[in-house]
Amino acid sequence: MSSNSFFVIASIRILSGLFSTLKGVAINAGVIIWDTLLALYNMVAPKRPANGVTPEGYPGANGLWPAYTPAQKDDSRCSCPALNAMANHGILPHSGRAIKFKDLSTAIRTTYNFAPTFCYFVPNYIAGVLDRDYLTDSFDLSDIDVHNGIEHDASLTRHDSIFAKDQGTPAVKLIEELLASGTGPNGNLTTADLSRFSGKRRVEAKAVNHQYSLSFLHKMFSSSNSSTMLTIFGGDIKDLRPFLLEERIPDGWQSRITKPMGLTIAEFNSTVLRVELGIKEELPSSFIGDASGKKS
Ligand SMILES: *[C@@H]1O[C@H](CO)[C@@H](O)[C@H](O)[C@H]1NC(C)=O
Ligand SMILES: *[C@@H]1O[C@H](CO)[C@@H](O)[C@H](O)[C@H]1NC(C)=O
Ligand SMILES: *[C@@H]1O[C@H](CO)[C@@H](O)[C@H](O)[C@H]1NC(C)=O
Repeated sequence: MSSNSFFVIASIRILSGLFSTLKGVAINAGVIIWDTLLALYNMVAPKRPANGVTPEGYPGANGLWPAYTPAQKDDSRCSCPALNAMANHGILPHSGRAIKFKDLSTAIRTTYNFAPTFCYFVPNYIAGVLDRDYLTDSFDLSDIDVHNGIEHDASLTRHDSIFAKDQGTPAVKLIEELLASGTGPNGNLTTADLSRFSGKRRVEAKAVNHQYSLSFLHKMFSSSNSSTMLTIFGGDIKDLRPFLLEERIPDGWQSRITKPMGLTIAEFNSTVLRVELGIKEELPSSFIGDASGKKS
């Protein structure tokens, strides 16, 4: 009897496991095809005007962002400046709580002009990490800070979670250092600057954090954040300063991505790879002599 019910339970679990794996593969394939089509459309369709990227009728249209109010004591915030800034302007609930994954997708799209593929992929990934349903469930901003889910060590804007339990507050000293490291026109940040700064952060974090970890996936997340600064913000430190330090969208700001379908995963990934592959501290130690990255 009890061994019978074991076989029933086990069979159903194996079948449903197989089904959800196939579903996952189909969704990923669908996203890649969809993304490619959007990238092709972006190549031929007219761009949006630089001062009219956010569509009419959405917060930020014509550069008019809803009023900025910093987080209050009971508000939920997270390690991601882009999501915190949306909450600080009330584009997401100011409390940072009970946000539907689906609503997050729309808000990211109209605020930053990421492509619909990216806007689906990331919240859907977060829902998966939290074992929730993308279509029906919601989350608080701080929920995404489960360590080594999305949040990871050697952040450019936060101290490692072993030292900073609250990942919702910017680490001012790190950010000032990042903003001062730009070598582009007017001190703007370039791809090479972000590779260099990321490498430095990884070496520093590893030296002081005895639980330091950074998987391949989290290295990609790390370089994805850098790529957001380079693409959506064009590396412009004048805009990145309030965005990173106060988690505020500057008056009149519009995403630097003027492509009509927004920044696709394909285009984004090419910047991610350039940042990540340019990190010389990731070379095998026999090439760099020591881990400090002092040799060049
Ligand atoms: C990238 O963003 C995640 C999520 O907000 C954050 O936890 C992580 O530390 C960031 N990484 C870097 C390198 O800034
Ligand atoms: C660099 O920064 C300036 C001022 O902050 C900005 O106006 C300019 O567009 C930026 N240059 C580039 C190449 O992104
Ligand atoms: C882009 O990179 C992510 C990981 O960072 C990967 O999951 C995805 O398949 C890549 N997509 C494309 C279209 O290259």
